[in-house]
Amino acid sequence: MKTHLETRALFAGYEPSENHGAVKPPIHPASTFVFPDAATGAAHMETAYGVEGAETPPENGFIYSRLGNPTLSVAEKRLATWDDSDVAALFSSGMAAISTTLFAWTGPGRALWYVGPLYGGTQHIIDDILPSMGVSVKRMESLDDLALMTEEDGIPGMIYLETPANPTLQLHRIKTATEWAKQKTTDEHRVIVAVDNTFLGPIFQRPLELGADLNLYSATKYIGGHSDVVAGAVSGGADAMAKVFEYRTFFGGMADPWTSWMLARSMETLAIRVERQVSSARKILDHIQTSPGKPIDGINKIYSAWAEDLAGAGDLKSAAIAQEQQANGGGMIALELPGGRKAAFAFLDNLKHFKLAVSLGSTESLAEHPASMTHAGVPIDEKMRHGITEGLVRLSIGLEHPEDLIADIDCALKAACEISKECVDFAELA
Ligand SMILES: Cc1ncc(COP(=O)(O)O)c(C=O)c1O
Repeated sequence: MKTHLETRALFAGYEPSENHGAVKPPIHPASTFVFPDAATGAAHMETAYGVEGAETPPENGFIYSRLGNPTLSVAEKRLATWDDSDVAALFSSGMAAISTTLFAWTGPGRALWYVGPLYGGTQHIIDDILPSMGVSVKRMESLDDLALMTEEDGIPGMIYLETPANPTLQLHRIKTATEWAKQKTTDEHRVIVAVDNTFLGPIFQRPLELGADLNLYSATKYIGGHSDVVAGAVSGGADAMAKVFEYRTFFGGMADPWTSWMLARSMETLAIRVERQVSSARKILDHIQTSPGKPIDGINKIYSAWAEDLAGAGDLKSAAIAQEQQANGGGMIALELPGGRKAAFAFLDNLKHFKLAVSLGSTESLAEHPASMTHAGVPIDEKMRHGITEGLVRLSIGLEHPEDLIADIDCALKAACEISKECVDFAELA
């Protein structure tokens, strides 16, 4: 019988008997590794640099920590186990993972097509950096646009998407991209589908199983999960990942040994953390709705990635996507408050348990104002297109008791509605 993912992932990448029986992996800070002899050293280096005719080096050997490190390797094997992928690569940040992947698989003759909204840093690379490097970039309104493309549009080198997207949790159907890419891929031209799975993965959404080539993360978020490490990750099949590893070696964006150790440790509690965050998010969503998808007075709109809320709000297409590709809607919620920035700030300033900070996916609950914080640099028309209004607040649900989080939200909503004068009947909520 194949053991469950939680069981396999706990010790993935690490064998105590090879380390004096130590139940936890050591940290290897070494930058360089001693070769047993010159011929082995040459085989390692010539293979790493792709020298023709190089001897095959022994497996599991290390050379230099930019190319590979034992602690990095433990964490990478652990993530590959969670993702059920051939391999995973860890990076010094989510942006290092995303930029390295974009540079590896796009270029002149390998256009990038994407759907928004995207994390602001990713959008900046796509708008301002890739075109200056000769990459043609096309923004699609929806992945349904793929069906409308003609020969004149050409075939992209990569389709890139983020789902659920930051901050309004817009959903995209991963299979629409992967089925199209599969049809258009030839021996000479592979169309890579890359999915930023930061908001749900790897426990609640598994793009590789839906045909995606590369699964990306800001590991700063749920994978790291404690607001004490900045990291990124990509995982996928060995062939698609080979180029990512090659570019990481030369750009030098790998995770360092300490970061890797922290990630390996965090991944031991990943499932249990996100399960609790999600169960609390569901309780909060139930509390702030009169019925699924219908916000109580004092909130204009609730953004949720849960199928039942999407269906209740009449967005049947997104509800069907959530049903098809997600185990649940995750631990992120966004609320649009009447009363604009003043009401949103009153809400944020009156929270006690939620910490007022950007980032997400941590043990502590976090709250922020996308329009002036995470998405401050997004042009106003883009903000409006994606519902990033002045009244929008984003919540990342943590591990506090859900009743305390609910009480915190009620209290902050009361302060916000005093500004907006559209008040919640708190007697009814009790
Ligand atoms: C969806 C998403 N992708 C990528 C990133 C970038 O990750 P990092 O901040 O770890 O570089 C973020 C950061 O907030 C994000 O939310």
